[in-house]
Amino acid sequence: MNMASLHHLLLLLLLLFCGTASAARRNHHSTSLPRPPLRFKPTNNVGQFKILQVADMHFADGASTKCLDVLPDQLPTCSDLNTSAFLRRAILAEKPHLIVFTGDNIFGLDSSDSGRSLNAAFAPAIEAKLPWAVVLGNHDQEGTLSREGVMRHVVGMEGTLSEMNPTVVDVRDEMDGFGNYNLELGGVEGSVFENKTLMNLYFLDSGDYSTVDSVSGYGWIKPSQQYWFQITSRQLQKAFKSKPQPQKESAPGLAFFHIPLPEYASFDSSNFTGVEQEAGISSASVNSGFFSAMLEAGDVKAVFTGHDHLNDFCGKLTGINLCYGGGFGYHAYGKAGWARRARVVLATLEKTEKGEWGAVKSIRTWKRLDDEHLTTIDQQVLWIKKSTS
Ligand SMILES: *[C@@H]1O[C@H](CO)[C@@H](O)[C@H](O)[C@H]1NC(C)=O
Ligand SMILES: *[C@@H]1O[C@H](CO)[C@@H](O)[C@H](O)[C@H]1NC(C)=O
Ligand SMILES: *[C@@H]1O[C@H](CO)[C@@H](O)[C@H](O)[C@H]1NC(C)=O
Repeated sequence: MNMASLHHLLLLLLLLFCGTASAARRNHHSTSLPRPPLRFKPTNNVGQFKILQVADMHFADGASTKCLDVLPDQLPTCSDLNTSAFLRRAILAEKPHLIVFTGDNIFGLDSSDSGRSLNAAFAPAIEAKLPWAVVLGNHDQEGTLSREGVMRHVVGMEGTLSEMNPTVVDVRDEMDGFGNYNLELGGVEGSVFENKTLMNLYFLDSGDYSTVDSVSGYGWIKPSQQYWFQITSRQLQKAFKSKPQPQKESAPGLAFFHIPLPEYASFDSSNFTGVEQEAGISSASVNSGFFSAMLEAGDVKAVFTGHDHLNDFCGKLTGINLCYGGGFGYHAYGKAGWARRARVVLATLEKTEKGEWGAVKSIRTWKRLDDEHLTTIDQQVLWIKKSTS
């Protein structure tokens, strides 16, 4: 075959592929319920938005998948179903507006059918009719589905706001990973801020393992993803500072991904809240620079990862909080007698001089333990708006 006809063949294949992909996308959107925008809501006269972070569920086959690292007397009655029970209890106790699953949602190696494991793992969020968002960890793809397959399955599920990847022309063809997307949280309906995005959530695929032969260890956030983050953050900040209701500072942002950044190693117990119980931080062995990218962008106030189940701390480095969710799932390594846990993030709005709901005033966090009383621990303020409008 000569080069010209090879070129034509490739082009034809590409067109066929794109056609199928966009048809799948259209179908997906037409069969799912319309998705109302996420908004701050007044609850007990506080304008707020609450996120439940669930890290490392490690869900596999359900009742037949036993728990790891629980007390000997807990072992006989403990399975994946305890992970689901904890999720249901945490939802009831906190009534979040969004659940974010930060990777290793399923433990592919022990799952006999990845699609079935995903359906079971996220079922409590769907039952509760809450919106939910997912990023991938390093174990999600170790079963019957690839990374792309897992994310494709997830975006087709009910109630999820997860997306495959951005469709921005500049980046869509070069994007590394699956499940890089952002969500905007709008102002209170009926308020002067109803058409304004008051907080931004960035979701990134931090990969699984290094794809570079000379480097071992875990994956990292690549330049293509950082470029997408950079242009997205820039656009969102520009919009926030423009009409209607132009603001002086940027809307705060939160970032969610699985593998902690090397900068998580910047703390000790004197300057973080929570615990570090693992021998170090299991980040990639190279620093791909995403922390600097967030510093330069300026809007991200906190990062939430999982991956290290026995670390659950949150510490602030040059204005950005680096937080762990803490291990949630029972078929995940843990520590017997040390409760599985979830992180909660609450953003609250200020009131303007005229008594209207305004922009975000503060962002706080705490954790919930899966003990008898779902004990709340480690409350901390992550960010407070400098000036009032
Ligand atoms: C797991 O769930 C079973 C059934 O509800 C319960 O009896 C058991 O105490 C739970 N185990 C743990 C570790 O929470
Ligand atoms: C928000 O946008 C809608 C639709 O364009 C418009 O009807 C409404 O008046 C806007 N609200 C404010 C506070 O500007
Ligand atoms: C935390 O404290 C240790 C000393 O105990 C110090 O080396 C480290 O730089 C501090 N980290 C931050 C982010 O302030």
